[in-house]
Amino acid sequence: MKFTAAAKLFILFGDPVGHSLSPAMQNAALQAAGIDGLYIPWRVKGADLPTAFESLRGMENFGGANVTLPHKEQAAALVDTLTQEAALVGAVNTVVARDGHLLGANTDGQGFLRSLHDEAAFLPHGKSAVILGAGGAARAIAVSLAEAGAEEIVIVNRTIERAQSLAEFVNRKIRASAIGLGLDDPRISAKVRDCALVVNTTSVGLTPSDPPPINPTLLRPGALVYDLIYRPQETALLREAKKRSCRVLGGLGMLLYQGALAFELWTGQKPSEEVMRQALVAAIANLSEVC
Ligand code: ATR
Repeated sequence: MKFTAAAKLFILFGDPVGHSLSPAMQNAALQAAGIDGLYIPWRVKGADLPTAFESLRGMENFGGANVTLPHKEQAAALVDTLTQEAALVGAVNTVVARDGHLLGANTDGQGFLRSLHDEAAFLPHGKSAVILGAGGAARAIAVSLAEAGAEEIVIVNRTIERAQSLAEFVNRKIRASAIGLGLDDPRISAKVRDCALVVNTTSVGLTPSDPPPINPTLLRPGALVYDLIYRPQETALLREAKKRSCRVLGGLGMLLYQGALAFELWTGQKPSEEVMRQALVAAIANLSEVC
């Protein structure tokens, strides 16, 4: 990797950050674009995030930043302005310097929609979706599906109150038709059977021996089953979905597209998505060798 003393600095804030694939992906993109820049992880505790953000304002070679768990919500309160999407989701994953100000954006939802469109030719408009989980990732996805005109959004979560509160939030902000259900709700069978899209946003599947987060016999052939998890590349949910002739997608595409959109916001240039994808695949292979 080549950079000079005048290189632009791109930063990933999170805690932890050591596992992130963004440095591999973004440094490959910077290099392919011939940009004199470097993308580095900065592990920071929530209590120190305000100071870290303050230091960005005086950094003349600041190129841009990403924010990952658990700081996305806090970051929304530390920037000067928010894009419409970031304000709606209440979370920031991308920070851009604009005339001495910090602009907070959120590319997670758009990254998800692009992945659906480019990798599965799936348009949510007029279709029903079931989202498993009700955390930060589920919020970005529920908002993006509602904005894209999904007909019904069913949020299923272990803690029913979180599912209901996310559904209420989406209905209030976007006037969508969302409902929140607990894991043992009898309506789940029909909702999963009738929907066009099932998205897993829970952490169930991160451990290769994890069972699917829902009963896979409910999945309808032809439905699109999307797991945000990208490692392992094929979770039990995707394996079982394939057996039932569902179409399946893992989380690599969303990771790629949210990063490509962030790169474009920082630099004004479209990155080479092929280079980014190859860097991600290589980084995942390296991780698998280490673990
Ligand atoms: P993120 O911001 O990445 O979405 P999160 O806010 O911690 O992370 O949310 C994780 C989601 O996975 C939650 O919906 C969580 O369910 P709860 O709200 O009940 O905690 C879900 N989850 C985690 N472990 C789970 C498990 N073993 N079974 C079912 N759901 C689980």
